[in-house]
Amino acid sequence: MIRWGIMGLGNIAAKFAETVDFMDSDTAVLAGAASRSLEKAKAFAEKYNIENYFDSYEKMCESDCIDAVYICTPNNLHYENCMTALKNGKHILCEKPFATDAKKAEKVYKFAEEKGLFIMEGLWICHLPLIKKAAEAVKNGVIGDVCHIRADYGFIAQGARRERKFKTQLGGGALLDVGIYNIGFVKTIYGADPVNIKTDCILNEFGTDMYGSILAEYPDKKFASMTSSIGLKMETEGVIYGTNGRIYFPNYQKAEKMQIIFNDGRVEEYSEPFASTGFEYQIEECCARIECGAVESPYYTHKQSIEVIKTLDEVRAAWGMKFDFE
Ligand SMILES: NC(=O)c1ccc[n+]([C@@H]2O[C@H](COP(=O)([O-])OP(=O)(O)OC[C@H]3O[C@@H](n4cnc5c(N)ncnc54)[C@H](OP(=O)(O)O)[C@@H]3O)[C@@H](O)[C@H]2O)c1
Repeated sequence: MIRWGIMGLGNIAAKFAETVDFMDSDTAVLAGAASRSLEKAKAFAEKYNIENYFDSYEKMCESDCIDAVYICTPNNLHYENCMTALKNGKHILCEKPFATDAKKAEKVYKFAEEKGLFIMEGLWICHLPLIKKAAEAVKNGVIGDVCHIRADYGFIAQGARRERKFKTQLGGGALLDVGIYNIGFVKTIYGADPVNIKTDCILNEFGTDMYGSILAEYPDKKFASMTSSIGLKMETEGVIYGTNGRIYFPNYQKAEKMQIIFNDGRVEEYSEPFASTGFEYQIEECCARIECGAVESPYYTHKQSIEVIKTLDEVRAAWGMKFDFE
């Protein structure tokens, strides 16, 4: 059983807590909650019945009451938060984007490997059964030769959340917030990274991307079109086009439904409703790997994570978009 501590008690921390609460306590339990505010930590701990709470992230990492930390602070803090947890011998599940650039990500993964600690980026779609099924179907040629994938993800962030999502000081913008899912989805299916990227964006008043579109070429003349936005409501669709048919996800991020639509008119329907929020798959994966002493998961390796962040770096460089702290 892995005892989890949560670092940064915002929106997604609640989803993680709700999921672990739902899970079998032989696999995972909530053992710590850390906030910059003691009152907030106490209220969160009471709500989710968590025994230990802290008014600093460091204090929780120094404590013996947890084995692993779920890091869900703003993007710009992931690097230092991971380093703090690793220095204190804690395993990590860190929210996406793992770091604001690939160099930082490489440093963290290297340190974790030296310490023999498990660490994984929380790109949770990689652990979803239907995403794995689609990747397998493509590998087995079920829809013929695949040469195009389309992935879109957009929503409208409002109020205080809008500022938090966009703020350059926090590593904001649609690409790192949701575009990373598009890139990760295509990478999972092609098993490769782009060799050529054409991209453009619309910046907002915070100097980060409100909208971004990417046309990417992958090895062997395969292509993908990806759009991301946190100012436009878009379907979170994923479509994988092959010469004999296509695989359609109405929502590839919450991949509970998938269709394989063959060119001859046959349609195969697949349904895998989440038992909880869908986070259970990645949390179960972390727990299982930690229990057996692994430092990474084969479903989202350190190398894969670094490669995706390199793509993010390349796209931002093409836009000329730098964060304030860069
Ligand atoms: N996997 C997913 O589906 C998913 C969904 C949404 C977000 N995310 C990722 O999760 C991370 C957190 O996102 P979120 O939506 O939960 O954000 P959020 O609601 O803003 O929460 C982030 C938390 O970080 C802490 N924090 C520390 N320094 C901060 C600062 N300078 N400004 C604001 N907050 C600060 C705060 O916790 P305390 O006040 O308790 O210290 C805050 O509540 C991001 O990296 C995001 O990309 C993942």
